[in-house]
Amino acid sequence: MLAAIRNAHAMVVLTGAGVSKESGIPTFRDAMDGLWAKYDPAELATPEAFARDPEKVTRWYDERRVRCSAARPNPGHRALVQLQDWCGQQGKTFTLVTQNIDRLHQAAGSRDVIELHGSVWVWRCVECGMEREERGPLLDRHPPRCDCGGFRRPAVVWFGEMLPERALQDAFAAAEQCDLFLSIGTSGLVTPAADLLYAAKDNKALILEINPEPTPATALTDWMLQGPAGQILPRLLASLCEDR
Ligand code: OAD
Repeated sequence: MLAAIRNAHAMVVLTGAGVSKESGIPTFRDAMDGLWAKYDPAELATPEAFARDPEKVTRWYDERRVRCSAARPNPGHRALVQLQDWCGQQGKTFTLVTQNIDRLHQAAGSRDVIELHGSVWVWRCVECGMEREERGPLLDRHPPRCDCGGFRRPAVVWFGEMLPERALQDAFAAAEQCDLFLSIGTSGLVTPAADLLYAAKDNKALILEINPEPTPATALTDWMLQGPAGQILPRLLASLCEDR
């Protein structure tokens, strides 16, 4: 496996909520503490939910925003920065695509991150489209309002919505051209993000998965490193950077 990483020319890394779990941010589908075990996505993460009860939706995202602001990148995020640096030194192409909205990859130092599902830090006016970043404490007004008077919603992708076109195109272009694809901390249940792995596989890329649990994609992988990303990735990087 190390030889495959060393021999790769173009690497794509797809991350999901599992990568941020060790930073204290819950995943969506873990049976005990996943967000969707406690909350109904149909009531919080759809355009219909926002139309029905914008206050409830924006309060929930505002609480998630404040919770994310307390989170710090973990060793898994930092190892991915090292991997990007290492790829740069070796003349390899490296693309990091994330489904996470917490921006912890960027906080760790990852560059040019493709955000498929938007960001919890940004509010977008549903009338004029103006976006505004909010980093401070809980908002005092829900839903927040734009200067134009329109409601602001979180600039994240909800169920039933299209992904940002540019991010999607860039992610698929990278996946279709890569020769090594890493799927880390994602259940692989949400498309189109989950289809990136299949696009890579169609191009005969080798697939490495890192996850404490098997996923539907595990059967397609060339290697599965079973365990938490915050433990596996630093070890992987240490082995990779050792003298051959
Ligand atoms: P999920 O909650 O579906 O899956 C999280 C994955 O992380 C699971 O496969 C866990 O086994 C794994 N995991 C848990 N702890 C881990 C750790 N320490 N290290 C590595 N992996 C770990 O989250 P996503 O796959 O990200 O979409 O979900 C995809 C999308 O579904 C999200 O972006 C969100 C959600 O609905 C939107 O909000 C649009």
